[in-house]
Amino acid sequence: MPISYNEQLRVFRLDTPRTTYLMGLVGSENFLGHIYYGPTVPDDNMGYLLRLEERPFTPDANAGERASFYDCFPFEYPAWGGGNFRQPCLRLRTAQGGPNCELFYDGHRIISGKPGLEGLPAAYGDNCATLEITLRDPVLDVKIRLLYTVFEDVDAICRSARIENAGGEAVGLDAALSACLELDNEDFDLITLHGSWAREQNMDRRPLASGKQGAFSLRGISSHQFHPFLALCEHTATQERGVVYGMNLVYSGNFLAQAEVDQFNKVRAVLGIHPDGFSWKLEPGQSFQTPETVLVCSDAGLGGMSRAYHDFFREHLIRGQKKHRPSLLNSWEACYFDFDHDKLLQLGREAARYGIELLVVDDGWFGKRDDETTSLGDWQVNEKKLPGGLKRLGEELAAMGVKLGIWMEPEMISPDSDLYRAHPDYAMTIPGRTPTQARSQLVLDLTRKEVRDCIYDQISAVLRSAPIRYLKWDMNRPLIDVYSSALPPDRQGEAAHRYVLGLYELQGRLVDDFPDLLLENCCSGGGRFDAGMLYYSPQIWTSDNAEAVDRLVIQEGTSLIYPLSAMGAHVAACPSHVNGRITPFEVRGRVSLPGCFGYELDIDKLSPEEQTLIPEQLEEYRQYGPVFREGDCYRLASYRENHTYDAIMAVSKDKKTAVVSFVQVRSRAYRRSLRLKLTGLEETALYRRKDTDEVRSGAGWMWGGLLMEAVQSDYLTALTVLERV
Ligand code: GLA
Repeated sequence: MPISYNEQLRVFRLDTPRTTYLMGLVGSENFLGHIYYGPTVPDDNMGYLLRLEERPFTPDANAGERASFYDCFPFEYPAWGGGNFRQPCLRLRTAQGGPNCELFYDGHRIISGKPGLEGLPAAYGDNCATLEITLRDPVLDVKIRLLYTVFEDVDAICRSARIENAGGEAVGLDAALSACLELDNEDFDLITLHGSWAREQNMDRRPLASGKQGAFSLRGISSHQFHPFLALCEHTATQERGVVYGMNLVYSGNFLAQAEVDQFNKVRAVLGIHPDGFSWKLEPGQSFQTPETVLVCSDAGLGGMSRAYHDFFREHLIRGQKKHRPSLLNSWEACYFDFDHDKLLQLGREAARYGIELLVVDDGWFGKRDDETTSLGDWQVNEKKLPGGLKRLGEELAAMGVKLGIWMEPEMISPDSDLYRAHPDYAMTIPGRTPTQARSQLVLDLTRKEVRDCIYDQISAVLRSAPIRYLKWDMNRPLIDVYSSALPPDRQGEAAHRYVLGLYELQGRLVDDFPDLLLENCCSGGGRFDAGMLYYSPQIWTSDNAEAVDRLVIQEGTSLIYPLSAMGAHVAACPSHVNGRITPFEVRGRVSLPGCFGYELDIDKLSPEEQTLIPEQLEEYRQYGPVFREGDCYRLASYRENHTYDAIMAVSKDKKTAVVSFVQVRSRAYRRSLRLKLTGLEETALYRRKDTDEVRSGAGWMWGGLLMEAVQSDYLTALTVLERV
């Protein structure tokens, strides 16, 4: 059983295949404290892990000196009050306005499987068990139900908290984070992801310092700027060695991911909805469910953490069409708003010629939208551009063997739209203030059911009107005027989270009603590339910057957490429309190969030499795309670190096929060949290198490495395939 309770020691034990998580009840009042999380420890005498003999740790020995206990106790779910001066997960406001709260163990149960979380995306699985621990504040009669789910097949633990008001008076939540992890600071580095539009998911690694540090978003979306994730790793940890802890939030709105180092050099890492601007009113009997946090611990370095997350997301979070990722041709960088039926048919013929599976008609097919300033909210096809509508286009494409996909931005409304003229109140605005436009658009108030229904009816009408197989759901601005006319003043602090819940409800309906539709989320590129959105769409557009060199860095950061099967990766026009860089077509293809491959350019405008590479690229994608997307992924070299070359490797789960994608960005003057040490192979099995027929044992390839000749040239790329003999 992966979950047990030792009554004598009063210790809860959770076991994943390679990790153990321990927490215990402390003192006569039963505080719930964290004991251990890390590589598996035997279930003999866990007593050595407890530190209850130390005075400040023992509330009983501190009856008159409670503060010293609160100041250092490793709470599983810390609340504000009692002398807990560190970051709380829970901060309450009583009807009288007081903030204090003390939580004590009230009971627990172990259930097989995993309950869903009301209104929220959440992991699922049969091969798992869940521990529910109830904490209670005896004064307010507020109960916290902490959920811990442990899976048999992956080293991940899901945590969330449900806060129930069992008392007789309303309470306000001013903070309700998802999880807390308290660890001794073992010379940890902190890893977060940061960026901007077109520069998403840059890895930041620095030594943990005293005080608070981390990542956050207050933009209403998980954002380009930071990611709802943090990792703590031993300072010496490398790609494949050392202990790493990851915390990732299954959520798409404002968040706080924070590590705090205290006076005793202990770390409190918390993750959840950002308390700033958040409040939630709980009437008696009401409850609040926090989003889920996915904890991973690996002693196999950053790569070990990444592979655990990849497996977890593929097996326990991403729903629906898990495997096939059709190749596609997207109209955006091919022609932006400047298209009509004939132009799209021409793109369709290009797709058909090469066997590209899908043509995606990006922005501009609806309302009277010829630029960014108009028509969001009017999801009727522009018959002037597309006579016969999407139906005719879809049928003509189908006759060529190409499927139709479309773009929509359902959460938005243009002030210049029929929808806005009819329902100006559907936009989120603050009474008395001019709303802030971004990209000439306002945000729909998705907290309101009638607004969601209006949009949903339009989306489903479009999808039913034509043979549409794919939808790119875009979202192109942050939330600024966060205010809902449907909420009373004392509930306005709920608006940002209710917006996210509204979004989840909409996408949940969509994937339920259209199970064969492939949904790809997008948010001006990767502004909402998070586990919450991944629950609804198995792939997400990684960045509007598809330029190959910048993309290496963006994809490295993204794949730190997410499987390659989730990353939209296209060969875009050149010179890059985003950074002006000129890169060879071949390199652009290689960089896109491991993700969800597509073209975002006008193929007819490519040179004949470039066009001849397309069949090869598509064949590589057909043959080896599945190894990258479904196999185990290893980072062999990071261009972000060495500024010269990049290499990733994937090994199929049955260890029969391995592929290595190498990109030399810059020439290396006067160097010897590079020895790329492979990893993940079966040591004693024999592997044949496909292009040279060289046969070596797995160990031979791993220790001897793949020699990459020192060619004096920028922009080289090689795909090496090994097959088990
Ligand atoms: C966003 C997306 C792009 C494209 C445009 C269309 O910027 O990220 O891929 O769809 O919108 O307006």
